[in-house]
Order: sequence, then structure tokens, then C-alpha cells
Amino acid sequence: MSFDKVHQEKQRRLSKAVEEVCDELTLTSEKICELTHFFIESMEKGLGESKEDASYRGLPMIPTYVTGKPNGTESGVLLAADLGGTNFRICSVDLQGNHKFALQQMKSKIPDEFLEDDTVTSDDLFGYLARRTLAFVKKYHPEYLQNKEELKLGFTFSYPVDQKSLASGTLIRWTKGFKIKDTLGKDVVQLYQESLEEQGLSMVRVVALANDTVGTFLSHCYCSENTGSLTSGEIVEPVMGCIFGTGTNGAYMEKIENIKKLPEEVRQELLQSGKTHMCINTEWGSFDNDLKHLPTTKYDIDIDQKFSSNPGFHLFEKRVSGMFLGEILRNVLLDLFNKRFIFTQYTAEEKLPHRLKTPFELSSEVLSHIEIDDSSQLRETELSLLQSMRLPTTYDERIAIQNLVRAISRRSAYLAAVPIAAILMKTGALNQRYHGEVEIGCDGSVVEYYPGFRSMIRHALALSPIGPEGERKTHLCIAKDGSGVGAALCALVA
Ligand code: GLC
Repeated sequence: MSFDKVHQEKQRRLSKAVEEVCDELTLTSEKICELTHFFIESMEKGLGESKEDASYRGLPMIPTYVTGKPNGTESGVLLAADLGGTNFRICSVDLQGNHKFALQQMKSKIPDEFLEDDTVTSDDLFGYLARRTLAFVKKYHPEYLQNKEELKLGFTFSYPVDQKSLASGTLIRWTKGFKIKDTLGKDVVQLYQESLEEQGLSMVRVVALANDTVGTFLSHCYCSENTGSLTSGEIVEPVMGCIFGTGTNGAYMEKIENIKKLPEEVRQELLQSGKTHMCINTEWGSFDNDLKHLPTTKYDIDIDQKFSSNPGFHLFEKRVSGMFLGEILRNVLLDLFNKRFIFTQYTAEEKLPHRLKTPFELSSEVLSHIEIDDSSQLRETELSLLQSMRLPTTYDERIAIQNLVRAISRRSAYLAAVPIAAILMKTGALNQRYHGEVEIGCDGSVVEYYPGFRSMIRHALALSPIGPEGERKTHLCIAKDGSGVGAALCALVA
């Protein structure tokens, strides 16, 4: 065979293999509808089952004890701390009572050893959080150190906790790569409070614990100036807060009468005091852990079983969130390599660039560059892969990789639309008022920075049971600084 023929044949085999993978990653309208109905079923089940322990496989649907929505007139200065998947942030938030706020913050990247080293303990982690808090207070508010009065702090802790009140909650399981065993089952508010006291910060009181989705929802309610009447006379209602970042999750207001898992006396007490709704942290990362309906490829199975810190759990998150998009691509590329379709200049897996063999080394940021690369010969993709992975590629390989990237991100965004559609349907939010519209507060690197992610969610909403009409009434808004402001709002009402 001539050189050209060999090249053409190689290219044909690669694009056929890629097409097969992309087909597997495609979600039809029927699948989106099936998943949406199953999500509603799972929410109802989760609201009735009071088993928020580590072995529970259903949708957690955790009551948060937040019973009202802010309206933007709240005011005060509060502290907020936020432990996420990548950073720890400590801030002071000045709520100005007019939908506006001012914020001072110190952000630190969580040291790698906390995620990688098995010998790290809970004391190490919370000691670190308290030391960062002290550093923040010394730098921005040294006057607090002389304070006799108590300073309220809201703690955003973006992991599944079993909450029994606004200011306490025990860790059910770690997600997003953490695996510190001795935190499991402990009250994270108490751990943080004790560490603060050890650092001499006994004037700081951790008065509220909030998931980042709850924080995002509250802060969106506070900041949104559309609530109430728009000039056009329409009413826009904030319905949920969601995160599409390292992890994914959402929170919304549920009728207290539907939250069957609340102890009866708590439910009665709340209803008698005039409360009607409570914010529920769905922990939708754990949707369909039994894989009854989620689309599943062999790559998804491998990532969960071989490479994740919580195998068998948070399987929805492993198909949707930023932590996994690059890892899915890495697994597909290794498989195509092992079948001799790609990177054929390397004779064996050991010879591949080290980074391509390292789990979680390919980041979703790299995918975001490839997604929209329209440079000639896909030069941007070439550079991006060289720089981040030390991986040289041919033009044919880059075309294949771009197709894969687009299929992986589209599946993620289409799946992301499922819980949104389900919550809109379950709460009846779209039908509450004539011409009523709804707002969804979103935060997280993927929804904020991944090109086209929000419009792909919108495509899928139109394909979901809410249809194009529901999609048009739904506004996906970026809620900046959601978790800091939200935690402060929680602390204010505590
Ligand atoms: C993970 C956590 C969840 C958090 C989400 C987004 O799914 O379990 O609590 O809200 O990530 O950060």
C-alpha cells in the first residue's frame, strides 16, 4: 500500500472508532425525559427515607433547616468560610441591604497532601482551616482580635452532611477527592469551632452550616433585583441554586408537608410557627447510584471503580462535573491507544507521556480550549495538549480529540439539564403565575467558563418534558460569590 493509502486507512479506522464512542455518549430526547421522570421519583423517595448514612444509595435530599428566602434588604457584617473541592476561602461580607454587598477575602489552594496523603487527619485539616482564618483576621480585621463581642461565621461545607439543625451536621462521606477517614461521622461545625479556639479565635462563633448550593441559592435571592415586579410587569422567581464546578449539586425550596423524613415534632413545630418551606440539599451528584437509567460507558465504570475515592457513589457527578470531564477523555484516549488507533508512534503504554498515564492529570480547562478551537490545523489544541500533557498530536488525532471533547461536554450539559427540569416540574414553578418566569442561580467553573455549557443545558431543557416553552421561561443566572454571601445570610438568621 502507498503511504497515502496507509494514512487514509489509519484515519478511517480512527474516525470510525471515535464515532462509535461519540454515539455512546449521545443522549436522545427520550433518554432525557426518562431520566427526568426518574429524578422526580428519586426526589420523592429521598424525602421520605430518613437514612442519611454512608450506605444509603438513594438521592440524599437533605433538609437544611433554612426556611426562608432573603429579599435583598438584609444587612450586617459577617464572616464566611468556604471549603470547596479546590480552594478554602475566608471572607468578611458586608450585606448592605439593597441587594448589594462588599466582600474582602483570602483564598488558598487546598494543599495537595490533604487530597493525596492517607496519613492526613481531621485535626490536620481543621487546624489548617483555623490557621487560614487567623491569617485573614490578622490581615483584614486585626480589630476583631480585641473583640469582646461574638462574631458570627457561616461555614460553607460542600460535602454531604447529615444536618440536624442550622449549626450542626455530621459528614456522611467525602466527595471530590478528599478521603480523610477520621472526619466521617463527626460534626464538622464542632471540629472547626474547636480548631478556631485553639488558634485563639474564641470570639468567632460558627453559627450556620450551609452547603455551597444552599449558599448559592440564598445569595442569588439576595442579589436578584428581578424578584418582585419587573418594569414589564413580569415576576421572576428564584427557584434553585446549583453548582457545576469540581462537583455538581443543587438545592431548592420544598414544602415542609412533603418532607416526610423530618421528625414529626420538628415538622409540626415549623408549621405552627408559620413556616411553609425548607431548603433541601438534593446532593444530586448521587442521582441513580444503582445505574438503573444513567447512560454508562465502560470508561464511566473504570473511572468510578479504579480511579475515584468513593466508588459506587456520586455516579451522576462522575458523568457531569469538571473533576471528571478530562478524566473521561483520558480514559477514552488510552483505550483508543491500546487498540492501536491513536498515538501509534508509541510502541507500548509505558512509553506514553507520563501525564497521559496519570489519573486526573488532564483538566477540564484543557477541554474548554479544545472545544472552541477553530484555528487552522487545530494549532491551539496542539499547543494546549503539548503544554499541559506533553503530548504531541497529528492533525487527524486532533480532529478526533475535538470530536470526543464535544461529545463528552455535551453529555455532561444534557445530563445537567435533567435535575433542573425535574425540580421545575416537581415544584410546579413554571405554572405558578400567568407568564411567570423562573431564575436559577448557578455557580462553578464549568457553568461559568466552559464555552457553550449554558446553551447546551438550554438545548437539553427544550428536549426535556418542560419543552421549548418551559426552556424559554427559565433563566440560568451566574451567582457570583454565591457561597460566601450565602453563608453570611445563613449566619445572619441564625
Ligand atoms: C459534591 C458535594 C456537594 C457539593 C457539590 C458541589 O457533589 O457532595 O455537597 O454541593 O460537590 O460543590
